[in-house]
Amino acid sequence: MRLSPTLVAALCLFSANAVQGYGILGHTLTGQVAQKFLTPETAKQVKEILSPYYDGLLSKAAPWPDTIKGQAKYRWASILHYVNTPGDNPPDSCHFEYNYHGADVVNGLFNMTSQLQHYKASPPVTPEEKSAREDALRFFVHFMGDVHQPLHNSGKARGGNDAPAKWGRARTNLHRIWDGQLILKDIKDRFDNNPKAYLDNMIDMTRGVWQPAASNWTVCDPDKNQGDNPWSSSTAQLAHLLCPKEWTRIMNQLDCAMVWKDYDESRDYSLEYFEKVTGPENDYLVQRLMAQSGMRMAAILNEIYDPPTPEGTHQCGEQVSHEVPSESIRFVKQGPRRFVN
Ligand SMILES: *[C@@H]1O[C@H](CO)[C@@H](O)[C@H](O)[C@H]1NC(C)=O
Ligand SMILES: *[C@@H]1O[C@H](CO)[C@@H](O)[C@H](O)[C@H]1NC(C)=O
Repeated sequence: MRLSPTLVAALCLFSANAVQGYGILGHTLTGQVAQKFLTPETAKQVKEILSPYYDGLLSKAAPWPDTIKGQAKYRWASILHYVNTPGDNPPDSCHFEYNYHGADVVNGLFNMTSQLQHYKASPPVTPEEKSAREDALRFFVHFMGDVHQPLHNSGKARGGNDAPAKWGRARTNLHRIWDGQLILKDIKDRFDNNPKAYLDNMIDMTRGVWQPAASNWTVCDPDKNQGDNPWSSSTAQLAHLLCPKEWTRIMNQLDCAMVWKDYDESRDYSLEYFEKVTGPENDYLVQRLMAQSGMRMAAILNEIYDPPTPEGTHQCGEQVSHEVPSESIRFVKQGPRRFVN
């Protein structure tokens, strides 16, 4: 496949690991969406947390957790990229019964956000603490991408890794198709191989065809994450935004409704299936999931690093709009999330 120079540049950054996890491209795009929705203050603090190498960009930091999977120091994290769902058998039945006792992407997201909050309240002093904080941010951004890849939310055939599939003349598997092939082809076919145009289109749709539903993407009903959640007290401040258990349940349903539906290893997934999950028929699902991931990520980071002041809550209209760029989003506690533009 011929790639545009920008795309090649984006991929080269992490080429050695180009086929792991939700691909480099998916993670890069979710980070880029998020960056557009950060307030300037959040963006500033993110830049301070990340090593200079990343230029303050979430998109550059996002793929990192896939590059360190082999290291003993990070072995604990390799099972946090997904959630297995015992008894689940899409598309016949999507069985999702969550408990917090395992180590998975839901726990991983709670763990990382609680660490980010901890370091916000008591800033790191030693180099070790600073590096733990940077790790937590990189894992957070990455897991936010993974949790929005439907096949990271179903254990069947190891999330589709063991489900052979055809892509044009190539042999691949369902997981890899969702990790990268759908996105690459979408950029190539509809956006002239220009990832920037693809990103801009996602941002436009958050204000266009995806409204009014998109206004609710960052709203979380705290009850949906309760039960025996061991992180609930340390992440209470984020309870109205941080909903990994609910997100993973919804993604799991998508596996039944769309991803695994009519699975057939001899089917060419680059044809009608591709059209169905990337096109208007399903509201540009592949792009929509990345946009949801990015907006939710930004909402949580804004809440941690630049929470609305009591005055801000009351002046959420015009006044705030002079302080933040049109694309950043602010959140009002106990109210619906609003765009400021
Ligand atoms: C939470 O993160 C820390 C590293 O920051 C890790 O050592 C620990 O195992 C994680 N806990 C869970 C339950 O995954
Ligand atoms: C947003 O969520 C609220 C509360 O769940 C619901 O009442 C409302 O209809 C939703 N709005 C849209 C546009 O989906």
